[in-house]
Amino acid sequence: MELVHRIDDELKHHDVPSQLMAPGAFRVPIFASMRARFAMDDQVFDSLYPYWVRMLSDTHWTPVSVAVRAAQLLLPGAGEHVIDIGSGTGKFCTIAGMLHHSAIFYGVEQRLRLIHVAEKLGRRLGVDNTRYLHTDIASVNLDDFEAAYMFNPFGEHVLDGRPQIDGFHRPSHRRYRDLIAVAQEKLARARPGFRVVTYHGFGGEMPRSYERMAREPSWSDYLELWVKRV
Ligand SMILES: C[S@@+](CC[C@H](N)C(=O)[O-])C[C@H]1O[C@@H](n2cnc3c(N)ncnc32)[C@H](O)[C@@H]1O
Repeated sequence: MELVHRIDDELKHHDVPSQLMAPGAFRVPIFASMRARFAMDDQVFDSLYPYWVRMLSDTHWTPVSVAVRAAQLLLPGAGEHVIDIGSGTGKFCTIAGMLHHSAIFYGVEQRLRLIHVAEKLGRRLGVDNTRYLHTDIASVNLDDFEAAYMFNPFGEHVLDGRPQIDGFHRPSHRRYRDLIAVAQEKLARARPGFRVVTYHGFGGEMPRSYERMAREPSWSDYLELWVKRV
């Protein structure tokens, strides 16, 4: 439980990064929202995105309050590298980067145009501790990271009528199962102490070497914090 206590401590002493205090068209509402215990409306944040991205937000991008809490649970230390597996338009990385400015948030994303959106968002907000990698999860080495976030990254293959991001590929149950297996293998090989936060899970069971440290309701599902033990 020590990690959970550290997390609670972090919440009590949470500090707003000074870079957010600079006046700017989009920094002010975000900063104000943080001071109001992070009760920021997603519509405000999403207004930074182009229309077609906003239309996908309910289904595909992490809600602001979930991103804030997920980042807190990950407890990113100074200089640590956190990866968002399937980073989409960078909503998690950007929010986490604003809140935890001494860590670096990486997003791995298969769709190049989503990376362009994420990078533009970061520039507009003056966030300089996010990086995006245009590649498939299969080519990522988790040894380069201390922690990971996953918002049901492969769920687009089993959407049940909700809007697809685009026609990048045809939904496939087989591909869904394969990607889950790839993620499980990578998680199983990660270093002891590796931390993972999931929202809506990732479609499969966490490897047995992980211990669940926290599970709490968040927006439309649960946030879970896992730590690799061996
Ligand atoms: C549910 S969205 C989550 C986006 C972002 N993490 C957030 O929370 O706002 C999942 C993202 O994972 C990406 N993705 C799915 N499979 C992937 C793969 N094999 N490699 C890289 N990215 C992938 C999708 O393109 C999509 O942008």
